[in-house]
Amino acid sequence: MPSSRGDKYHLPIRPRRNRKSETVRGLVRETSPAAEDLIYPLFVQEGEKDDEIASMPGCKRWGLSGLVEETGGARDEGVRAVVLFPAIDESLKNPTGDESCNDEGLVPRAIREIKATYPDVAVITDVALDPYNSDGHDGVVDEDGRIRNDDTVHILCRQALAHARAGADIVAPSDMMDGRVSAIRAALDEEDFEDVSILSYSAKYASSFYGPFRGALGSAPKSGDKKTYQMDPANAREAVREALLDEAEGADMLMVKPAGPYLDIIRRLRERVHLPLAAYQVSGEYLMIKSAAAAGWIDEDAVVLETLTGIRRAGADMILTYYARHAARLLR
Ligand code: PBG
Repeated sequence: MPSSRGDKYHLPIRPRRNRKSETVRGLVRETSPAAEDLIYPLFVQEGEKDDEIASMPGCKRWGLSGLVEETGGARDEGVRAVVLFPAIDESLKNPTGDESCNDEGLVPRAIREIKATYPDVAVITDVALDPYNSDGHDGVVDEDGRIRNDDTVHILCRQALAHARAGADIVAPSDMMDGRVSAIRAALDEEDFEDVSILSYSAKYASSFYGPFRGALGSAPKSGDKKTYQMDPANAREAVREALLDEAEGADMLMVKPAGPYLDIIRRLRERVHLPLAAYQVSGEYLMIKSAAAAGWIDEDAVVLETLTGIRRAGADMILTYYARHAARLLR
């Protein structure tokens, strides 16, 4: 329908009008990642030394002082929450991961130091046995290689209590054992920690994207894989089932992990569950961006913000990302 004015069309509906300037784009923008939605995963080790992590360029295993300093630096740039992952000395590992329940262990000491210095930073802890377990599994392994669910849950409860006593704001079971949310909730309440929240890794997939993280902690399984407890990447309905169970067991927040390859899962859970939802941009996702940027193939800052926007748009309220501090700086 060419009009009388040369080659112009009479097009009353023109979606491009809403993109005509940064101001108008700002008015119609549906999703914006914000620093306050970001959770910063930090690795901690004994001693005062900070070490570069070979498998995760740009990340460090922090000594306690470095950990507190990095937390403060990130906080000053807008990050409000950290999640701690300990690198435990091999000599402290055993088949039942006893060190995970030690009130004077590395994580409880790290929590106390951070909370003493930055009480307004939310400290989240990962509850699972793999950093402490001589088999490198998230649970206790029996003679025939099977993971013992209920025995593991007892230990997870004691681990969560050690974190709560040290001042953790949120405990995050990442082990994928059945029934651990209700058991941890009961254990916390029994000791009057009813204000400590549970962020459940509800839909944690048996993913190949965790490799660099396991390199950082020396926590790779010594034998077998994690497919009898972590989820099959092929399944989506099963994630909804896990999420509904965790909601019924009393979880305060749920998580999907990894994030980027599982945006459909984030969206499904968003539509089915009314709890706040977190997504974990894991080590392999981080490294794909890092390495492509290091080769000069992509614009790191732009890609980081685009991935975070995509994860938020899919329905996540919060994002765990090794880029948290970097992204907070970009978002200022
Ligand atoms: C273990 C745990 C893993 C991650 C977080 N918690 C690894 C695993 O399940 O083997 C992975 C995080 C990442 O890859 O960034 N409970």
